[in-house]
Amino acid sequence: MTTNKQVEPAGTTTPAVPPFDTTRDFTGLVKFATPTDDEMQTLSQLRSSSGPWKDRGETPAESMEALTKLRPYISVGKVDNVVVGYVTVERDGPVPGASYMRNIVVKSELRKKGVGRQLLDQSLKVARDMNRKTIALRVDPANSSAVSFYRANGFTTVATVVSKKSGKLRLLMSREL
Ligand SMILES: CC(C)(COP(=O)(O)OP(=O)(O)OC[C@H]1O[C@@H](n2cnc3c(N)ncnc32)[C@H](O)[C@@H]1OP(=O)(O)O)[C@@H](O)C(=O)NCCC(=O)NCCS
Repeated sequence: MTTNKQVEPAGTTTPAVPPFDTTRDFTGLVKFATPTDDEMQTLSQLRSSSGPWKDRGETPAESMEALTKLRPYISVGKVDNVVVGYVTVERDGPVPGASYMRNIVVKSELRKKGVGRQLLDQSLKVARDMNRKTIALRVDPANSSAVSFYRANGFTTVATVVSKKSGKLRLLMSREL
């Protein structure tokens, strides 16, 4: 007779802590995949409740619309198959010849634990696989956590540009791959 009961190999235990126990060490645990339809909903919630999109009052439906266009460029980061964040990388963007990281978002309760660094490493890998030598991004200078994160990870400001959408200043940053 077969049962659904899972048998653990001797000497192992099922982790007692859920993935979002914020005391957990996430180093090296983030795995990447393309998003499923269900995960697209999760990413839309994540984007509309984070950073510049939240400040702009973007709704989950508007996030879904934007992310649907970006879907081919999305890498979803997961720990134990649970979404912890996502990053997008396109081959072309505002810097000629450079790949473009348009979105990088970590679930709010998991920030400052090295998850963003793992998302960034994934984006660098994707950009290298596109045969690019440089990756660029645009960031609101008022988004100090993001600017600190990019600086800590080797990005430098190459120009200050005016956003066509909002008329506000944006830093154009880049780094070699
Ligand atoms: C930007 C973001 C992706 C960083 O992710 P994260 O998981 O917090 O980053 P990490 O833990 O890997 O941080 C690595 C380094 O970045 C810097 N950093 C990250 N967040 C910081 C903050 N709030 N203040 C100062 N430095 C910060 C630090 O140098 C940090 O190293 P440390 O922990 O040794 O001090 C995350 O803050 C986020 O999702 N923000 C909301 C969405 C957003 O604004 N995205 C960018 C615009 S597209």
